[in-house]
Amino acid sequence: MEHKNKPCVIHHKMWSDGESDQASGTSSDEVQSPVRVRMRNLQQRFSNEDINKRLSLPADIRLPEGYLKKFAKNSPPFDKPLSRRFRRTSLSEIGFGKLESYVKLDKVGEGTYATVFKGRSKLTDNLVALKEIRLEYEEGAPCTAIREVSLLKNLKHANIVTLHDIIHTEKCLTLVFEYVEKDLKQYLDDCGSIMSVYNVKIFLFQLLRGLAYCHRQKVLHRDLKPQNLLISDRGELKLADFGLARAKSVPTKTFSNEVVTLWYRPPDVLLGSTDYSTSLDIWGVGCIFYEMITGRPLFPGSTVEDELHLIFRILGTPTEESWPGINTNDNFLSHNFPHYDGEPLITHAPRITNDGHDLLCQLLQFEARRRICAEVALRHVYFRDLGEKVQDLADSKYFILHFSFAEIIHPPHRCAISRC
Ligand SMILES: Nc1ncnc2c1ncn2[C@@H]1O[C@H](COP(=O)(O)OP(=O)(O)O)[C@@H](O)[C@H]1O
Ligand SMILES: [Mg+2]
Repeated sequence: MEHKNKPCVIHHKMWSDGESDQASGTSSDEVQSPVRVRMRNLQQRFSNEDINKRLSLPADIRLPEGYLKKFAKNSPPFDKPLSRRFRRTSLSEIGFGKLESYVKLDKVGEGTYATVFKGRSKLTDNLVALKEIRLEYEEGAPCTAIREVSLLKNLKHANIVTLHDIIHTEKCLTLVFEYVEKDLKQYLDDCGSIMSVYNVKIFLFQLLRGLAYCHRQKVLHRDLKPQNLLISDRGELKLADFGLARAKSVPTKTFSNEVVTLWYRPPDVLLGSTDYSTSLDIWGVGCIFYEMITGRPLFPGSTVEDELHLIFRILGTPTEESWPGINTNDNFLSHNFPHYDGEPLITHAPRITNDGHDLLCQLLQFEARRRICAEVALRHVYFRDLGEKVQDLADSKYFILHFSFAEIIHPPHRCAISRC
């Protein structure tokens, strides 16, 4: 760390001298000019690492030939912020924002409004995911895309997919993401829907960690589902697809209620509430937790009524005691649901522990305000055996790095079905 900081101080000083001397109009012909000597030193000392740091580039970026010199010549002093224009020009000179910097490989996914391809970045040689959003056909695509871009640019967290680049052409907007091997739906399919219970815990923790960060930044995801959670070969989980997310400016803001995929949509929203907040995502987390532990979706309804019916059959038809005010909800009354007592979720999910069951119930509360929040859920006793260290990680740190990967993907002596 120390060796990195020191050169910065020297650079900064040299730049300051150089600039003021230049400004005073020193002749460039003076061979003995201390300015020129210092400038030369400076250019020699300027490293790729410095540029990476100033422009927040990936460590493995390949800078074009001669770029180091050019950057050193034009860059403002280290202690001065880079102007947006300088930044944009520099990134473009390096190759960002250009389609030719990426090689398109196989198609990996077709989503709600985009097609996603595997690709390779010529800038770093790394694999990337190219999310192509056609601007010409799909109505609404530009607005979901703009939302996704503007939110993701400000979300930097180990459990949120990283946006590397944006390429805008007339017909298409391409978002370039880090490539993550599969989504949770594919992961479950590959496991024959039987995940190791230990991996369930690790994935759930990471999901809550990414979500707690989003909620702290006042962003709701609004479309949590296994297809939108990416799983790397190393067992990292990353939230993806922020196309439907929107910054939550005030906690009571009213949104349209047609946003979350039906299976993961909470009953208050299904019954017409538009006054939702972070609790919207929390219900989805409960459904995903159940799906990971049992291998099947919890409430796979095909219509709003069917969805509510499935929820009430399992959790019990709500009453004034279990959901105060429900008998004044016209939507609820109009459906005239049969009375179900409900059954403990643990009878449907025998692999869940008592602690896991307790957390699941707190995630799946009828009343939005009673649902546990992501931050508190992370401290639930269910996660105690992950250790204390995982609670205090910096946002950018992979929680997974504190374990051996092999242990996560194939936990030893824990369970015979940890094939995934
Ligand atoms: N960064 C990525 N790496 C690998 N695959 C991805 C990545 N992002 C998305 N995918 C795949 O593409 C699918 C669609 O992407 P998504 O962002 O959810 O688009 P949509 O908004 O159209 O649903 C995902 O379900 C996933 O399978
Ligand atoms: Mg999606």
